[in-house]
Amino acid sequence: MMRFAILLFLTVLYSCGEQPKEAVVETEVPIKYDMYVPSEMANLMNEMYNYKAELKQGILSGETPSRFPEQILKIHTAELSDFKDRTEAFEAMSKAFIEAEQRLFDSTSTESLKTRFNATVNLCISCHNMGCTGPIPRIQKLLIK
Ligand code: HEC
Repeated sequence: MMRFAILLFLTVLYSCGEQPKEAVVETEVPIKYDMYVPSEMANLMNEMYNYKAELKQGILSGETPSRFPEQILKIHTAELSDFKDRTEAFEAMSKAFIEAEQRLFDSTSTESLKTRFNATVNLCISCHNMGCTGPIPRIQKLLIK
């Protein structure tokens, strides 16, 4: 039971924690590192992070985003880590996030790209505030100042 609890704890740390490596070092129980398999959602999130970082650079150098990243629609179906539920709030937040992302590609929009880009990042943060706060400091760095 203890082992199970620790595993559960580590799973949560890995997917939503800030500095999982240090957290593991601090435990005294010998747990192998390779026990962690990232969920489909965790992989998608990391892809989204990299995509956003590139997009930010593009916008800063004056480019207009041209192609909606279809792969982010997987947010509606990707499997979450164990012990995490696809709640109604999660669904609503995913939908709001995708809609904000679509507005980035609306060439008739009267809002600046910076405003629209930051709106998407703020939705990443809003959803993370519902219970996956670890990555928030990293996500905040994506905001265009
Ligand atoms: C609808 C809610 C929601 C939105 C929107 C969202 N996230 Fe997440 N994010 C999560 C959840 C839940 C997890 C944990 C996934 C898991 O462990 O299965 C997560 C995990 C992560 C992780 C950690 C992945 C790992 O390796 O464990 C990062 C980084 C991340 N998100 C970045 C982002 C970024 C950047 C955005 C916006 C572009 C974003 N998230 C939008 C809910 C969301």
